[in-house]
Amino acid sequence: MMRVGYVYFAACALTWTTQALGQEKEIQNPLAGDQSAIKEGSSLFRANCSPCHGLNAGGGGRGPDLRAGLWVHGASDAAIFRTISQGVPGTEMPANPFEDSEVWALVAYLRSVSAGTKTPVAGDSAQGERLFFGKAGCAQCHMVKGRGGRLGPDLTRVGAARSVEYLTESIREPDKELSLAMSDPNNHYGIPAEYDTVTAVTKEGERVIGVAKNEDAFSLQLLGQDDKLHLFLKKDLRDVIHERRSLMPAYTESRLSNQELQHLLAYLSRQRGE
Ligand code: HEC
Ligand code: HEC
Repeated sequence: MMRVGYVYFAACALTWTTQALGQEKEIQNPLAGDQSAIKEGSSLFRANCSPCHGLNAGGGGRGPDLRAGLWVHGASDAAIFRTISQGVPGTEMPANPFEDSEVWALVAYLRSVSAGTKTPVAGDSAQGERLFFGKAGCAQCHMVKGRGGRLGPDLTRVGAARSVEYLTESIREPDKELSLAMSDPNNHYGIPAEYDTVTAVTKEGERVIGVAKNEDAFSLQLLGQDDKLHLFLKKDLRDVIHERRSLMPAYTESRLSNQELQHLLAYLSRQRGE
């Protein structure tokens, strides 16, 4: 019985997938341009999407600017529909259990605010790359396409995942969002706890600073600033201090000029994992 049921299910799933794939190009938003749908989409967006994509879809939180017309996950109505309802696996973009009509309302809203033209971020991306791997020292902690350090998040796809505002803030004021996240008791849209800076103080008074990769009641695994993994038993430590700050230094203007920042933004915004 089980077997028969399974085969039947698999066959159905297959037919459905083939149909869905075949139709994907053709399906268009039945609510396109409909003013009341756009209004509904706008309020759905504020309630469900703005914490990450910004109030007016311009990005700034933890999600990309959706007005930029990039659509790295597909630009057709059907592709945007799928991204919204199924999310983007392996990223922070969640699946959303909406009615079809609600998803179409969201698509109509996004179309109404999106520029349709792709304007690349100003600045010289090649100079940005040189700064990243050279003078600015970003690659000491960050990897892009397999090159660089492990202390901070991998930035290979950061241009698809984050807005320019968010990138700017991450560079100029890395503690800002961290402190916002800390003031949100559920840490919903904040920095993943894995990047919280931790200082381990040994019984001998030695201090090892890094990001906690694993921590439980008995042990602590710390990726140190020396890029080495340190394993401590808590009974051997005098103290474990959660610093509530980013390990990333703030790149203020004295350290990184506005022009250099612009080159870095041009470089980072083009990192979309392509
Ligand atoms: C928890 C944060 C979060 C929430 C909530 C969220 N998103 Fe996203 N969204 C993201 C991130 C991050 C990405 C980029 C995924 C990647 O790395 O490619 C994304 C990507 C997208 C994309 C693809 C953009 C492209 O270039 O193809 C669309 C469309 C989108 N989101 C729409 C929505 C809508 C509509 C909602 C609300 C129903 C929503 N998102 C809620 C974080 C979020
Ligand atoms: C000493 C290590 C270190 C250095 C040097 C460093 N970073 Fe970071 N960076 C981190 C850590 C840790 C995080 C995660 C916590 C946070 O967001 O502050 C981070 C976060 C980020 C983020 C946010 C990523 C995301 O998806 O949320 C960006 C963007 C970023 N860094 C860019 C840069 C750039 C550009 C430079 C060079 C100008 C740089 N970093 C230098 C450690 C570093």
